[in-house]
Amino acid sequence: MRVLVTGSSGAIGRTVVSGLFSRGHTLRGIDVLEPERGLAALLPLGAFIGDVTDPVVAADAVSGVDAVVHLAGNPSEAPLPEALASHALTTASLLDAMLSHEVRRIVYASSNHAVGLVPRGEVLRTDVLPRPDTFYGVGKVAAEGLLSLYADRFGIEAVALRIGSFLPEPTTRRQLATWLSYGDAVRLVDAALTGPVDGFTPVYGISANTRAWWDLEPGRRLGYEPRDDAEAYAGRIGEREEDEAEGAYVGGPFAVMPLRKAL
Ligand SMILES: NC(=O)c1ccc[n+]([C@@H]2O[C@H](COP(=O)([O-])OP(=O)(O)OC[C@H]3O[C@@H](n4cnc5c(N)ncnc54)[C@H](O)[C@@H]3O)[C@@H](O)[C@H]2O)c1
Repeated sequence: MRVLVTGSSGAIGRTVVSGLFSRGHTLRGIDVLEPERGLAALLPLGAFIGDVTDPVVAADAVSGVDAVVHLAGNPSEAPLPEALASHALTTASLLDAMLSHEVRRIVYASSNHAVGLVPRGEVLRTDVLPRPDTFYGVGKVAAEGLLSLYADRFGIEAVALRIGSFLPEPTTRRQLATWLSYGDAVRLVDAALTGPVDGFTPVYGISANTRAWWDLEPGRRLGYEPRDDAEAYAGRIGEREEDEAEGAYVGGPFAVMPLRKAL
């Protein structure tokens, strides 16, 4: 499949580019940053430099691909205007470009922080109401709203990956439940690109963690078969004072961090 990966120079982007390339996809990348040496060789359709909020840049990047993996965005808390630009405006710009170029499928790096203030319960389902924990989370809710709108109005196939903790290995108690390994991240994105999707489809992006409490079934229905389990690292992770507060809500540390004013 010919795939555009936005945010291709970022942490998840580099891993996904290398993993999708190995799985036989033909890739183009776009990022505001130059790709590291070696990465450009994995992007035969081009390593574009540009800001995907710009509709002209987005249209150029989307031209001639079959699907978009949208990973461009600031992964941290930010003032509201910045969060909306980084998550909602980039998504809107790419969706418009997809309509112009008749590209149907988009896989979006949403976040658990879209539902971060849901208290810890039995199983976190994907049909829980939005409950952002930060302006970052509000940006992700807005982006998911756009994906849902374009799915319903225009038949776009949109998968929102509510990613947990993408890290080489878990380092806190919470991450024993929320870890997404590098290998599982690639398996998840590939399943979201190629699996059966009808309309807007949110899924949780975590590994097969023994302590997980977020529903993995929607991802499995796409064909996502996670192989890693954070439990393998549990013995190395000591307890911290923050663990209890971080474990009380989906969003962990984001759910308890002080919130600045919106504007
Ligand atoms: N890392 C995690 O655990 C995690 C968890 C949940 C969600 N996410 C989401 O996944 C995505 C990628 O996260 P990451 O950890 O790789 O972040 P990152 O900062 O390492 O990578 C993001 C990349 O996107 C690029 N970028 C940002 N805005 C852009 C724009 N407008 N146009 C073009 N390029 C742009 C940046 O230059 C960067 O290279 C983000 O949307 C983030 O919110 C990450």
